[in-house]
Amino acid sequence: MKIEFVSTPLADISSPALAAYSFEEAPTSSGTVEKLPEETRGLLQEMNKGGELTGKAFECTPLRWPDGVSADRLLVVGAGKSQKFSETQLRHLAGAAVRHLRSRGVKQIAWVLGSVAPSTITAVVEGALLADYDADSYRTESKDEKGIDALILATGGEPLPVEAHAAIERGRILGEAENFARDLVNEPSNRLTPTRLAEQAEKMAVQFGLACEVLGPEEIQKLKMGAFWAVAQGSREPARLIVIRYLPEGAPAEPVIGLIGKGITFDSGGISIKPSENMHEMKTDMAGGATMLGVMQAVAQLKPLVRVIALIPATENMPGGNAYKPGDVITSMSGKTIEVLNTDAEGRLVLADALTYARRLGCTVLIDAATLTAAVMIALGSITTGVFGWNKDWVNRILAAAHHAGEKMWQLPVDEDYRDLYKSSIADLANTGGRYGGAITGAMFIGEFAGDTPWVHLDIAGTRWANDEKPYRAKGPTGHGVRTLVQLLTDFAS
Ligand code: BES
Ligand code: MN
Ligand code: ZN
Repeated sequence: MKIEFVSTPLADISSPALAAYSFEEAPTSSGTVEKLPEETRGLLQEMNKGGELTGKAFECTPLRWPDGVSADRLLVVGAGKSQKFSETQLRHLAGAAVRHLRSRGVKQIAWVLGSVAPSTITAVVEGALLADYDADSYRTESKDEKGIDALILATGGEPLPVEAHAAIERGRILGEAENFARDLVNEPSNRLTPTRLAEQAEKMAVQFGLACEVLGPEEIQKLKMGAFWAVAQGSREPARLIVIRYLPEGAPAEPVIGLIGKGITFDSGGISIKPSENMHEMKTDMAGGATMLGVMQAVAQLKPLVRVIALIPATENMPGGNAYKPGDVITSMSGKTIEVLNTDAEGRLVLADALTYARRLGCTVLIDAATLTAAVMIALGSITTGVFGWNKDWVNRILAAAHHAGEKMWQLPVDEDYRDLYKSSIADLANTGGRYGGAITGAMFIGEFAGDTPWVHLDIAGTRWANDEKPYRAKGPTGHGVRTLVQLLTDFAS
């Protein structure tokens, strides 16, 4: 998508579509609709009288060859109540315009900017890119016909601040990084094996100048990653441990932020096999890994002065002849022994060793993202990510970054009293803590491998995927977590 500013008066912009928004309180004279020529607004008043234009959130009112402007179309998007207006809402409004127009074959949109503030520009660009995405990449019919080619940001002649172009860049970088993560999550497991995921990571790293290292089965075993290997041994697809480093010159020695993403390219449950209903959804069990790859792609371009290392343990969880079994006792890289009570609790096992390795590589803060538990979906649905951790400071930093970025995250507790639930009678730990409080015990199990390093866990099992279409985004993979973590990292000075 080409993105550029245009400063000609709105009336003179000859684009296939001009898009503006207005609020419920004053649908013909608020928001950016207010900036349109009087003649055009006269038409809107007529439509408002007829009930066709109300300003209700995401109402799309298209006008063909409207008076007063040179554009072929005017699209007015309802912005809802002005009190509820926010950057998130703006991102969604731009997204709604994109999805409405692209479905009607429009290739170029001129968006009327409400302000030229950098955050406004970024929100519009990011919203447009996120909306210009569909999950039907393997549909063979007419798929390349519906995307938007160009987004024109119409300033109406207002002078641009010096940061304006960087604001477009930030929006583009974020939108593309989130869409990269979404593409990976959307890939079926026959096409995105651990090997392919590692290749995609390497390709991204080369493109954006990051150092990428990929370990295979021999190295994973040599490092004594017994927990990761236990999961990996049941699959014929070789496991991969993906390590990507972003260590910019001039960044302080600490913190070194470890971003650990669960990379199960397919979770059948293993010997504790899952029911077949909805098992296909388990192609998305590498969403945590995808999130971290998206974050690294963005960070490589935004260049904050902070050290980051991403680690993605990637494997399938399969019930092969060599698969690990319930009752098995395995020795993790940390030395802690684990009794496997359920082979479907595999995420915490691969993450346990990845956290241990992250600490060995020098990470001083650990943040993991994982599609870890169905229990978190029971608690928070698919709207909100569960946030866990013992370190109040880092939990709060994540929550603040999420709030700022407009992603919904909510802290759930960790507490000593839950420890008993995943005790084992034969080993140091058991890999499950039962049904009740399952998101908490799953999180705490991972935390056992963080030692005294500050650690935050994001359970994105619910938020990885959207089950419904919204006016501003397709049904399917969400890329959830990317924006929050990029926000966290770029809050360290660029
Ligand atoms: N990948 C699943 C969790 C999951 C379920 C993610 C549904 C997205 C949608 C995870 O590996 C798993 O199977 N967790 C089990 C843990 C249990 C066996 C302790 C679960 O949540 O049922
Ligand atoms: Mn599982
Ligand atoms: Zn899983």
